Amino acid sequence: MKSLRARISLWFALSATITLAVLFAVGYLLLESHMQRDLDLLNKTEFEQIRARLGTDYGALTPQIVDQRIHETADYASVLFYVNIDEPPHDMLFYSNNLDGKPIPDVPGKHIYNAFVPGVGELRVGEFIMPPFDVTIGTPTRQMRQDLTAYVEVCIALLVIMLLTSGLIGIVTSRLILRPVRLIGETANRIRSDNLAERIAVPGGKDEIFDLVRLLNQMFDRLEASFKQARQFSEEVSHELKTPLSLVRLHAERLLVEGKLERRQEDAVLVQLDELARINQMIDELLFISRAEVNGVTLNLINQHPGHFLRSVEPDLHALVEHRGRRLRCVQHGDGLVAMEEKWLRQVIFNLLTNALRVSPPNGLITMTSIVADGSWCVSTEDEGPGLTDEQCERVFDRFVRFNVRAGEDQGSGLGLTICRSIIELHGGSIRAQPRGGELGLRVSFSLPVATVVESSYAMGQPLLGT
Ligand SMILES: Nc1ncnc2c1ncn2[C@@H]1O[C@H](COP(=O)(O)OP(=O)(O)OP(=O)(O)O)[C@@H](O)[C@H]1O
Ligand SMILES: [Mg+2]
Repeated sequence: MKSLRARISLWFALSATITLAVLFAVGYLLLESHMQRDLDLLNKTEFEQIRARLGTDYGALTPQIVDQRIHETADYASVLFYVNIDEPPHDMLFYSNNLDGKPIPDVPGKHIYNAFVPGVGELRVGEFIMPPFDVTIGTPTRQMRQDLTAYVEVCIALLVIMLLTSGLIGIVTSRLILRPVRLIGETANRIRSDNLAERIAVPGGKDEIFDLVRLLNQMFDRLEASFKQARQFSEEVSHELKTPLSLVRLHAERLLVEGKLERRQEDAVLVQLDELARINQMIDELLFISRAEVNGVTLNLINQHPGHFLRSVEPDLHALVEHRGRRLRCVQHGDGLVAMEEKWLRQVIFNLLTNALRVSPPNGLITMTSIVADGSWCVSTEDEGPGLTDEQCERVFDRFVRFNVRAGEDQGSGLGLTICRSIIELHGGSIRAQPRGGELGLRVSFSLPVATVVESSYAMGQPLLGT
């Protein structure tokens, strides 16, 4: 059972019901022994009556007189008592009429016991010695058994009621007990790298929950401090690296301008300049990502029609794709106004397209679809490359994550999609990657909230440019 609430309710219901069942069982045993003691007392009283009836000279009486004297008493009480008198080792001296000649069984060594007489049923038996006679008196336990059965039935009904009501009480109490834990969970879930300053509200009362909240808040304090340190460190390192890199680049460019290098040396310097440019770009990207994570990037948002925006970038997209020998198809549906800063969204779209180009086969088709519907603008790129697994799609937006990189291939740094995610989140949207259902390739799509829906100024399904 996964939910703690369900487990608490179940434990509560079971422990309350089991406790009650144990109490009922103890009650049953006490009641039974109490009733049996009453029956024993009745047997004893009957014996005293028989003894009085026989008189003090009973030892000298003939069996006939004994029989005659007892019959009067035994017959009178035959509804309640069954009586045997024997004179060991001789035969039975007397049977009460209600025994129909059947003896009450003897349990050697015991004077009080339960015995079963065929045709009569269970008897509570008391054996009394009156030398030379053994007087055995039995009282039916039928009524006692009936009372005990009724007791058991009532107990079972009460246990069922107890199980149901304690289950209900358990559900309500566990909900109340776990309410602060749920609130803690909700707040802790909200605390991310971009709002590390938020803390869980400390509840009143110095109980275990209070201690837990205090410990969690202390942990968040430590996390916030170390996050800040790490960010500060990477920003400082990035800044410190930029100056020597610029100097190295300047020296390399001067060597080229002077023109005194041999062909081979010139090529080597050009490779160095390429690599320096890559490192520079990587530093800029890392700086951007770490600032975006603390909302340190201010956007200049302007409401724009997605259609207008895509029309403005589309010629460059086509030029890039055709240059790489692939095909591009752009489709736009619906219209609205979306708050965006154009330069950043251009970067997202170019990053997605560059990724798609890297994996597309020659002449492969890349489809870019833009849809404005249900209060959001959704843009997706689909390619005919090898695609990614679900698990890879989960991780693809993390820093420096790269998959299936083959030696000698156009090397990326693994930051492109991380930057895309930062840009899209700064715009209040979300981005995700998923395998193209049933087909080879990957679909990466982002969506942004639409500020105002505009009644279709773009025809549905209208291609922006030729396919
Ligand atoms: N369309 C795609 N199809 C298959 N794999 C992809 C696709 N897009 C991205 N990937 C995988 O995700 C990884 C990360 O992509 P990302 O754009 O973040 O980095 P990159 O392209 O390797 O480098 P950068 O964009 O920084 O130059 C890529 O290395 C690639 O393995
Ligand atoms: Mg990329």
